[in-house]
Amino acid sequence: MTPRLFVATRNPGKQREIRALLADAACEVMFPEDRGLWERPDEAGLEDAESFEGNARRKAEYFAKLARFPTVAEDSGIEVFALGGKPGVRSKRFAFPPREDLREQDEANNRELLVRLVGAPPERRRARYRCALVFLERHDARPWVFEGQCTGRILETPTGSGGFGYDPIFFSDELGKSFGEATAEEKAAVSHRGRAFAAFAAWLAEHPL
Ligand code: IMP
Repeated sequence: MTPRLFVATRNPGKQREIRALLADAACEVMFPEDRGLWERPDEAGLEDAESFEGNARRKAEYFAKLARFPTVAEDSGIEVFALGGKPGVRSKRFAFPPREDLREQDEANNRELLVRLVGAPPERRRARYRCALVFLERHDARPWVFEGQCTGRILETPTGSGGFGYDPIFFSDELGKSFGEATAEEKAAVSHRGRAFAAFAAWLAEHPL
């Protein structure tokens, strides 16, 4: 029987990317909805840690307990160097007040970031995406950590409609275009998440579930 891997994210943009990134791994990928795990109020507090790894670890432990399968969780975000690393671990809820609808929240986050950078020259718009991924065989097992990052700058206006979140305003150094303009394959080849999951997939190949 194909081993199953639980992936602890509800974000549809992340789910789409992670399914593709793990397409060649010898496991069946399951998300919370596939296990009938609907969102609970206590999930809101899972992302209060001060680091991507800390947040990923809390999500992995929480969901590994509920799902009772080997679990991988990721936490990610964007850091603008001239803003002292903001939005960072607060990327998901950067714009205030919080919006119920994820797409509205993403758009508000982009507007907030653009406003904070109005008039900033290119060198003050440098940024990177970061992704930390924590794998747990069981909720109380040794955590395995994988990371990825990619650099670029924040554009002055959104460009392209691909990806999700900050992608239309993130110009990738490596692709020479925004993640909003990139195909899914192009983004996966250089993105923070693509790199973290490539490292995880290589590890999985050596440590089958
Ligand atoms: P979290 O990891 O669920 O806390 O959410 C991460 C947040 O960072 C997302 O809601 C997005 O706003 C942003 N983010 C992380 N990765 C990406 C990406 O690949 N593209 C665009 N935005 C991202």
